[in-house]
Amino acid sequence: MTTDNAVFDITESLKEDVLKGFSASNKYIPSKYFYDQIGDKIFQEIMGLPEYYLTRAEGDIFNNFKSNLRSLFGSDGGFNLVELGAGDGLKTSILIDDFIENKIEFKYYPIDISENSNISLKASMMEQFPELKIELITSDYFSGIEKIKKHYARNVVLFLGSNIGNFSVKEASSFLKELKSVLSPNDLVLIGFDLKKNPKVVLDAYNDKSGVTKRFNLNLLTRINHELGADFKLENFDHCPTYDHNTGEVKSFLKVVKTCQVYITSLEQSFSFTAGELIHTEISQKYDVSEIKALASKVGFELKDNFFDENNYFVNSLWINK
Ligand SMILES: C[S@@+](CC[C@H](N)C(=O)[O-])C[C@H]1O[C@@H](n2cnc3c(N)ncnc32)[C@H](O)[C@@H]1O
Repeated sequence: MTTDNAVFDITESLKEDVLKGFSASNKYIPSKYFYDQIGDKIFQEIMGLPEYYLTRAEGDIFNNFKSNLRSLFGSDGGFNLVELGAGDGLKTSILIDDFIENKIEFKYYPIDISENSNISLKASMMEQFPELKIELITSDYFSGIEKIKKHYARNVVLFLGSNIGNFSVKEASSFLKELKSVLSPNDLVLIGFDLKKNPKVVLDAYNDKSGVTKRFNLNLLTRINHELGADFKLENFDHCPTYDHNTGEVKSFLKVVKTCQVYITSLEQSFSFTAGELIHTEISQKYDVSEIKALASKVGFELKDNFFDENNYFVNSLWINK
């Protein structure tokens, strides 16, 4: 076995979701499928883009507040550091480094749908921190959090990088209620929320000049070509993001620029795409502080503290399970 847990069948899940998404009246592809071997690499490029302020802001917060976080996380003794959608763990390694230096007792459980990303994460963590206790969970958030139930020590759940923004506000609320149902009283959740700000700054982060985000979006079609045997021609589609400051929603679409038919071998079916049609691929929800407070209280957590970067672009909000 290549990871510490049974492997989640991502291709089967992609097949079911593509059938649902392409049969809907407004076509869509769930954003979790961005992260295959190519998508993981492109996302690392995105994190380094001048327009993509999110990663830098959250990294600054961790560098500035790591000792506060250490005291809050460790106030009950040893803990399980559970990370939902861990990716390359770049920012988490700032905290891990500090915990190890200060001889804090903890075990790290990264949960990620991308097996490739989880394997590289473990290799990089073991190289940086040979003494780190780590157990990989390669699965969807929902199956991953079920495994938290078995834990006896305090769970400290990290949900970073504005991953929460990939849910609508309604979905975020259901997801957090489900998360709460597997946690024990006194467990902690640290969530990275991207804040509402100048609409141009927000939109540029999803529409960079060098076209990296466009490649990331189009890679969904390349993935469907490879994994499901489809014949998408990428030149018939374009990247099209929008931002509505009132709702706080960035929506990314693949816009059909030339009408075409696409055959998907594993579904034994053709799908029609009409010029001008939009395929929804991602939501990146932005919040303000009052909305975050309301969300915590709605789902039954108590907001313990908020940690901001110096531009007030981003916040890591620490919640305790009552
Ligand atoms: C935007 S990246 C952020 C990574 C990291 N949290 C950070 O802040 O840099 C999203 C990560 O979440 C994972 N992911 C996305 N949807 C997921 C899902 N439904 N279940 C588990 N992991 C998911 C992806 O594979 C990817 O590694």
